[in-house]
Amino acid sequence: MPARTITERVQWVGAVDWNRRLFDDLVPLPEGTSYNAYLVRGSEQTALIDTVDPALQHNLLEALESLPRLDYLVCQHVEQDHSGTIPQVLARFPEATLLCSTKARPMVEEHLHVEPSRIRTVADGETVSLGDRTLQFIYAPWVHWPETMLTLLPEERILFTCDFLGSHFATSRLLAGNDPAVINAAARYYAEIMMPFAPAIRNNLKKLDGIEFDIIAPSHGPLHDQPSLIIEAYRDWISDRVANRVVIPYISMHGSTEAMVDHLICALAERGIASEKFNLTVTDLGRLAVSLLDAATLVIGSSTVLMGAHPSVIHATAVANVLRPKVRHAAIIGSYGWATKMTEQLTAMIPNLKVELLGTVLCKGLPQADDLAALDALADTIRDRHTALGLL
Ligand code: FEO
Repeated sequence: MPARTITERVQWVGAVDWNRRLFDDLVPLPEGTSYNAYLVRGSEQTALIDTVDPALQHNLLEALESLPRLDYLVCQHVEQDHSGTIPQVLARFPEATLLCSTKARPMVEEHLHVEPSRIRTVADGETVSLGDRTLQFIYAPWVHWPETMLTLLPEERILFTCDFLGSHFATSRLLAGNDPAVINAAARYYAEIMMPFAPAIRNNLKKLDGIEFDIIAPSHGPLHDQPSLIIEAYRDWISDRVANRVVIPYISMHGSTEAMVDHLICALAERGIASEKFNLTVTDLGRLAVSLLDAATLVIGSSTVLMGAHPSVIHATAVANVLRPKVRHAAIIGSYGWATKMTEQLTAMIPNLKVELLGTVLCKGLPQADDLAALDALADTIRDRHTALGLL
């Protein structure tokens, strides 16, 4: 993808990674991603904001080929999908100084082996003049690493936000407009990457209140030229609001647990509660994360394997625990052949979830009438809790 013009002084010089399907060897990327880097030309000096993943470094280096001089390279975030080409850019432009936050400095040295003499730290709120254009740095810790900072270009009314407010969404379009597909991709991105840091995001969103900008330029996905759309979406995601929905990830080895899941889903539907059923043999964990973004209740379903929960359920439960969704209630259902310890095992795995445990329904083999009655009782309890939350 060639360089793209955002304004007369600002160009996108990133890379679109159409084929990438996994990030951190964990996060599914069904729609690919992009690594956005931005070239800013002042009347006196030129700055590059972030770089690209090293796998696509040729895109960035080709875009910079005819650039005679680079004065500043801004590292907003040290994760390698944005910083990984910093060594190559610094080698290509030996006159350039790397600008980063104080927390980023040691990380840049350790992760990228940048010579300390090439680095200059900038303080929260500090400005660097490019002549008739100015870079202003705004610390934004924990979106999603401790060293992250944003960059405001006030004369162009552009706010560069790195991972914050971004989306894994490969497209040749520069601007998001009001495309709901971009907000959906941003929701998945929030759920997969940002959700554990909701309190920090709350603080960082407040910082944006006093800043004037027309465009948000994140480091992944299209730029937000209607910034209120993504900001309002984030405000909702970090709010206390939960939806009248039960999320049910499960594994059923011989059909017994699935029979329980299906019975519970019908019982919940009769009580006016929607469910989302995730068979973990085929579920993309990103979809599960999005579903957990605002669900009121989580019900984990599992067959028993060697006395414990199925390993795929253990994996999904561990992921839910690290993502820290705002789910309010949890329950465990499942079946076993002769004995099980899945309740103790799974409840011990979710210390990060601030949930009320609504109980466990376990059955030996296929569910019988009393097991189905216990699931009906669980549905009653969930209905009562959702009613108390004002969801029904
Ligand atoms: Fe897109 Fe935290 O890197």
